[in-house]
Amino acid sequence: MSEREHDTVWDRTRLEAPHTQPDKAQRVRRMFDAIAPTYELVNTLASAGRDRYWRREMVRVTAVRPEDVLLDLACGTGDVARAFASGDPRPTTIIAADFSRAMLQLAAKRPAAGTLFTQADALHLPLANGCVTIVSCAFGIRNFQNLGAGLSEIHRVLAPGGRAVILEFTIPSMAIFRHLYRFYVGRVLPALAWLVSRDRTGAYRYLHKSVLSFPSRVEIVSSLKTAGFSDIVVRPLSWGIVTIYLAGKTGI
Ligand SMILES: C[S@@+](CC[C@H](N)C(=O)[O-])C[C@H]1O[C@@H](n2cnc3c(N)ncnc32)[C@H](O)[C@@H]1O
Repeated sequence: MSEREHDTVWDRTRLEAPHTQPDKAQRVRRMFDAIAPTYELVNTLASAGRDRYWRREMVRVTAVRPEDVLLDLACGTGDVARAFASGDPRPTTIIAADFSRAMLQLAAKRPAAGTLFTQADALHLPLANGCVTIVSCAFGIRNFQNLGAGLSEIHRVLAPGGRAVILEFTIPSMAIFRHLYRFYVGRVLPALAWLVSRDRTGAYRYLHKSVLSFPSRVEIVSSLKTAGFSDIVVRPLSWGIVTIYLAGKTGI
C-alpha cells in the first residue's frame, strides 16, 4: 500500500460501503495502529464514561466461573480483559488477542495479572478447537472482514457449553434517540475526536458509517444461529446505543 501509515484510510468513496471493501481488514488495522495512543481518551470523552459501565455489564451477564478460560478478542488496549480480571470470580486464564500491534502494545503495558497476549486475526485464530470457555468481543465484530466467518471462528475455539459475549454499537429503536444519536455520532464525535487525536485516517467517520450500515440486532442473532450458537440473549443498553449478545455453544 503506497499511502503512509497515518494518512487517510477511509475516504468518502470507501465510506459509502465500509463493510464490503475487499481490503477492509487491512484498513481497520492501519486505522487502529494510528489512533491507538488516544483511543481510550476519545472513548471516555465521547461516551461520557458510559463505556466502563457497558464493559462491566458485559462481565456481569457472562456470570464467570473460577475455572473459565477467557479469550478477549479484538482486545484493543485491554479494557475488557482488565474488567474480567477484576471480577469476582475472575477467569483462571485470560488470553487477549488483537491484530493491531499498537493497540496490543498498549494493552500489554497495563496487563491484568495472568493475561497472555497474542497478535492474531480474529478470523484465523492460532488456537485449537474448543480450548476456551468464554469468548468476549467488545466493539470488534463490526470491524471483521466477514461477520459470519468471525462468528464461526469464535464458535470453533469455544468448548461445548462455552459462551460468547459480544458488545457492539446498534441504532436506537426510538426515533428521538435515533435522531439524536445520528447527529452526535455523525457531527459531534468526529469533531471531538479530531480535537483530541488530530486523526487523519477517517477513523471516526468510519465509526459513524460502519455503525449505520452494520447488520441489525435481528440480523446478528440470525448470524449467530448460522454460526452454530443457541440460547441467545440480547440486551440493549443506554437506549439501544449498544447491545450485548450472549450466545451459547451447546454440549456438555
Ligand atoms: C473499537 S476497538 C475495541 C477494543 C476493545 N475491545 C474495547 O472495548 O475498547 C476494535 C479493536 O478490534 C481490533 N480488530 C478489528 N478487527 C480485528 C480482527 N479481524 N482480528 C483481531 N483484531 C481485530 C482492532 O485492532 C481494535 O483494537
